[in-house]
Amino acid sequence: MQIPDIIIAVDGYSSTGKSTFAKLVASEFSFLYLDSGALYRGVTLYAQEHGIISEDNSIDEPALRQALATLDLHFEDCGGGSHLFIGDRCVEKEIRTLGVSSQVSPISAVGFVREFVDSKLHEAGSRKRVIMDGRDIGTTVFPEAEVKVFITATPEVRARRRFDELNAKGENPVLEDVMKNLIERDYIDSHREVSPLRRADDAFVLDNSDMTLKEEVVWIKGLIQGRFGILE
Ligand code: DC
Repeated sequence: MQIPDIIIAVDGYSSTGKSTFAKLVASEFSFLYLDSGALYRGVTLYAQEHGIISEDNSIDEPALRQALATLDLHFEDCGGGSHLFIGDRCVEKEIRTLGVSSQVSPISAVGFVREFVDSKLHEAGSRKRVIMDGRDIGTTVFPEAEVKVFITATPEVRARRRFDELNAKGENPVLEDVMKNLIERDYIDSHREVSPLRRADDAFVLDNSDMTLKEEVVWIKGLIQGRFGILE
């Protein structure tokens, strides 16, 4: 199937499988995949390691603003996929811990942090043939994206997925903590002042609670075929 030069925006709640879906679609369509959440996580890790955010989530905004002026946050292809780097240090593993997850929402609610991440996404998106996942890609970052998907799943399914993911990485989370973190993040992400998480009016909803990944890919192929009149 010949896919046109488009931007695909994938938004939705935490742990709905956005990145797994977007990565697979990227490889099927030979698109570039960009994980906007990883950039927010990278900023959060940096802030934690430099005492810019404290345990009660208070943020030293002047210090953070100053740090972002020179922060070298970028993706590098390490063979096993694209990984996030701070300078020459690969932080892909560190940014996925529950410790970072628990403070990423307050960091990503800061307006100038969002501007920092958005400028990085815009650099990449100018090339088209890109699929990005996040919370505000279809509403704020690329409102002109040709295809927008909003993914949902039940909280139970999402908590179980994140729990299994953390377990597989050797963290030993408590299911209730994972669920609590998801619910907290959903709340902060959808209630913040700057680009809150919401479905773009022209986004297609994908509830993948009872779907396999394969079915999700079939779903988006059908959507694109219909949208662009592609026969096969
Ligand atoms: O997709 P994720 O769970 O890795 O994202 C981590 C956090 O980053 C999420 O809780 C909210 C924030 N985020 C955001 O505010 N806007 C985006 N476009 C992507 C992520």
